[in-house]
Amino acid sequence: MTPLVFLEIAHGTPEYLQELALRDEVLRRPLGLVLTDGDVSNDAEQLHFGLFDADGSLTACVVAVPATLSKAKIRQMAVSPALQSQGLGRRLMEALEKELRARGFHEFELHARRSAEGFYHRLGYTTEGGEFTEVTIPHVKMLKR
Ligand SMILES: CC(C)(COP(=O)(O)OP(=O)(O)OC[C@H]1O[C@@H](n2cnc3c(N)ncnc32)[C@H](O)[C@@H]1OP(=O)(O)O)[C@@H](O)C(=O)NCCC(=O)NCCS
Repeated sequence: MTPLVFLEIAHGTPEYLQELALRDEVLRRPLGLVLTDGDVSNDAEQLHFGLFDADGSLTACVVAVPATLSKAKIRQMAVSPALQSQGLGRRLMEALEKELRARGFHEFELHARRSAEGFYHRLGYTTEGGEFTEVTIPHVKMLKR
């Protein structure tokens, strides 16, 4: 297995700038969009994590938002395009959930792109409610308790 390290990313650091670049590349450019000030306006209050390779390059990132004392919302999940479908997304989500459980969160919620719904299903998330549009594409709300 690739020796990747799971690390928290502090806001405003060079690692955070790598995260912004990855979010823009993976989550916005393919939709013909760019990461906007609105997308990052609450970043300083949110929890950022990534999988880094031995050179310190960010391979995958995710953001968690405490919603209540026990519930966290997960957003901005992205794996570097060249490294997708190699288990990194699963590794990052499992490490994130372990970290969040250690911080007292035991309920996770996210808005999944329809195209990624199967990924979250495999990780034990269930779909709740109907489809809605975000960043121009169909999404569903998913939960894991
Ligand atoms: C979706 C994404 C995060 C998944 O990460 P990944 O590293 O490619 O996925 P993994 O290799 O860890 O896959 C884990 C499991 O989910 C499955 N899977 C991965 N992507 C899937 C998808 N889009 N649909 C259905 N199943 C998927 C894999 O087959 C694998 O199944 P297994 O463990 O039973 O063998 C990644 O592909 C990505 O960044 N995609 C573009 C951005 C995006 O859609 N982000 C999510 C926004 S909600």
